[in-house]
Amino acid sequence: MDYVSYSKKYLMDTYGQFPVVFTHGKGCKLYDTCEKEYLDLTSGIGVSSLGYGNDDWVNAVTEQVKNLAHTSNIFLNIPSLTAAKKLTELSCMSKVFFCNSGAEANEGAIKLARKYSYLKYGSGRSTIITLNKSFHGRTITTLKATGQEKFHKYFDPFTEGFKYTDVTIASLEETIDDTVCAIMMEAIQGEGGVNPLPKEFVDKVFEISKKKDILVIFDEVQCGMGRTGKMFGYNNFNVEPDIVSTAKGLAGGLPIGAVLCNKKLEDTFVPGDHGSTFGGNLVSTAAAGCVLDVLGKDGFLDSVAEKGKFIKEFFKNAATKNVVEVRGIGLMVGIQLTSNKASEVQKKALENGLLVLTAGANVIRLLPPLVITKEELNKGLTNLVKIIELI
Ligand SMILES: Cc1ncc(COP(=O)(O)O)c(C=O)c1O
Repeated sequence: MDYVSYSKKYLMDTYGQFPVVFTHGKGCKLYDTCEKEYLDLTSGIGVSSLGYGNDDWVNAVTEQVKNLAHTSNIFLNIPSLTAAKKLTELSCMSKVFFCNSGAEANEGAIKLARKYSYLKYGSGRSTIITLNKSFHGRTITTLKATGQEKFHKYFDPFTEGFKYTDVTIASLEETIDDTVCAIMMEAIQGEGGVNPLPKEFVDKVFEISKKKDILVIFDEVQCGMGRTGKMFGYNNFNVEPDIVSTAKGLAGGLPIGAVLCNKKLEDTFVPGDHGSTFGGNLVSTAAAGCVLDVLGKDGFLDSVAEKGKFIKEFFKNAATKNVVEVRGIGLMVGIQLTSNKASEVQKKALENGLLVLTAGANVIRLLPPLVITKEELNKGLTNLVKIIELI
């Protein structure tokens, strides 16, 4: 079957897609319709954190599907209660709201922050500051929250009430005014180029926010759930946010999102304020429960951190001439090239059976499954370095 023609005929053309169709996977390997094997350094953009066909995950999901897949949020369900308990225990947060995606989690986070501020200070204090180069999602509101001008075209009118700061203390101080209720940021900007925030900047955000009762929201959709070798990206900065949004890797391959809040905000939402038909779905939250068990295992997150160091060390030793810098934390890595040839590298890698991502024109982004072995990394990186050398 000609899948490319099918896609052109039946799917809206929203993604620049490769003409490769995967049919199955095991561990960190994916196989296409011709049984060609690929080593995956992408986890389906940070989602399949336990790789493919993980026995515990498959069991948790299939058992749940067999028993019950969906009820609705007018009833309690055990997998979502279990996942919520685990999620709060593994973070510094107090309560959880489940939804279906990263954008939806950010929408929930924004609503929560605005309601908290409204109840305490009344209207007119609803501005959310986000960071230039950030990415927060594709809905009308989260596009506007995204600090990249190119996303603010075509879809007017956008949701009002967003201001943007550079990642500098001067710009932050200039942007904050009395209308601000929250600052939202990624601990490591993913789509924006794999940019970990400077510690001084994060500290300043918290210092100002504490003084002015401004809420700090961390968008952990990409850098959370063990990706950096800590439970959340913000754990690398020793801070405790008010609100956290998470998604992608939380359920290891099924749609999910979550908004977490601290004690201060735990009673802000009341019945009727927010909801989502599929939020807290039994199957997705059963999958999340399994992922959270793995992340909570002794030594698991340390092993992620160690593999991150291994990648940095590998590039140091390879001394690749076409690489400017290798940055990131844990298994969220950006390889900045000397030229705008990230897409070319990605395409060549695919031909060579290696899956990598890009983040802008000159950055190769790696988000391998968290369970990848050093042997697999060694093989993939050796392949990647050869490609980068030849561009
Ligand atoms: C930091 C961040 N926030 C939000 C989103 C949006 O998530 P979703 O595509 O699940 O809506 C993404 C997606 O890449 C992301 O990286």
